[in-house]
Amino acid sequence: MSDALNYLLKARPDALSHYFAFLKDAGKHLDPKTRNLISVITKVDSQTERGFKQYLGRALREGCTPMEVLDALLMAFPTLGLAKIVWAVDIILAMNIPEFDPEVLTRTARWHDVMDSAGIEDGAVVRTECDGRGLFIYRDQQTYNVFDSRCPHQSTDIPELALQDGTLTCPKHQWAFDAHSGACIKKGNSPLKRYESRVVEGRIHAHW
Ligand code: FES
Repeated sequence: MSDALNYLLKARPDALSHYFAFLKDAGKHLDPKTRNLISVITKVDSQTERGFKQYLGRALREGCTPMEVLDALLMAFPTLGLAKIVWAVDIILAMNIPEFDPEVLTRTARWHDVMDSAGIEDGAVVRTECDGRGLFIYRDQQTYNVFDSRCPHQSTDIPELALQDGTLTCPKHQWAFDAHSGACIKKGNSPLKRYESRVVEGRIHAHW
């Protein structure tokens, strides 16, 4: 939400609460995916970069695929026009979201061989890279929790230095995450993206 709306909500809650109730009610018969895609398109139409990044991140977290986002943008062509679609795609490219890579878009999910399971001590968290993706891995005895290193807020790639005493703090807007569970514990409201994992012959595999 913009600073201006935040301000108005605090200054005039009596008036603004009706606006938010209206927005909530207006989409109550839509499934979450459709609602998210419409929100993304409204942010492209108004060309609010921060809101677009935020709604895009939420749409992807809540199950929209990059192809569905691109479909929504293209379907809205009659109202957005090419310039706004290009504006949105430029932002997507600058966000460096691996799933939007044209090669990845057409590839089906598979297991990736990440690292030697003995390379992480029990109870430790390490950051590593695999096939172009940054990962944080937490080991709990024989269980490995594999998280995407990109912040669920606006896709900032969280560096190793952001890890302190089991907490990961995104350098951009300071959302903080429990590096063991991936839960967001400060400022934000969305967890780190977690990948399915398995250990095969001493190697940690992750699925994306
Ligand atoms: S990108 Fe905003 S907190 Fe990480």
